[in-house]
Amino acid sequence: MKKIFLIGYMGCGKSSLGRKLAKAGGMEFMDMDSIIEQREGASISDIFYYQGEEYFRAAERALIEELGAAEGDMVISTGGGAPAWEDNMERMNTLGATVYLRRTAVQIASRLSPHGRQKRPKLRGLNDEELVAFMTANMAEREPFYSKAKHCIDCAQMSDVEIIEHILQIVKQNE
Ligand code: S3P
Repeated sequence: MKKIFLIGYMGCGKSSLGRKLAKAGGMEFMDMDSIIEQREGASISDIFYYQGEEYFRAAERALIEELGAAEGDMVISTGGGAPAWEDNMERMNTLGATVYLRRTAVQIASRLSPHGRQKRPKLRGLNDEELVAFMTANMAEREPFYSKAKHCIDCAQMSDVEIIEHILQIVKQNE
C-alpha cells in the first residue's frame, strides 16, 4: 500500500497537484482539509473560530493515523500546518512517503486568489505586504518541520506536469 503525503505551505499547490498526481498514478486522492470540513459540517474558518485550533489539529492528527492505516494507494494532501504539530512529521514518515513542495512566500502570494486568502483563517484580512511578511516569518518557523520530509521538490521553476513526473519517479524508485 502506497501512501504519499504532500506537505508544504498554504497555497503551494498540494490539493491541485495532488488530485492530478493521484489520477496520473492510479491512486485515490484524499484532501485532509476537505475531509475534516465534510465530517465536521463546517468550514476550516468556522472550525478555527468556534472550536479552536487545537481541536482542528487533533482532528488532523487522527486523520493522518486513519489514512495512513487505510487500505489502498493514496495521495494525501495535508494542511500546511499539520507537519508542525507534535510529531506529525515522524508519523507521516513512518506511514508513507512525504514529499515537500517548496515555494517562496512571494511566489505563493502571487498565486493566491482573494478567495484563497479569505478561506484561510491565518491569512484572512492581510494586505499584499502583510501577507508576504507573515508568510516569510511563518514559513521560516515551519521549515525545520517541512525539511524532515523524505523528499523535497523545489517547485519554483517547474511546471505541474514536471512536478508530477518527478513525484511518480520518486515513488517508483522507493517501491
Ligand atoms: C493551515 C493550512 C490550511 C488549513 C488551515 C491551517 C496552516 O491548509 O489546514 O487553514 O496552519 O497552515 P492548506 O495548506 O491546504 O491551505
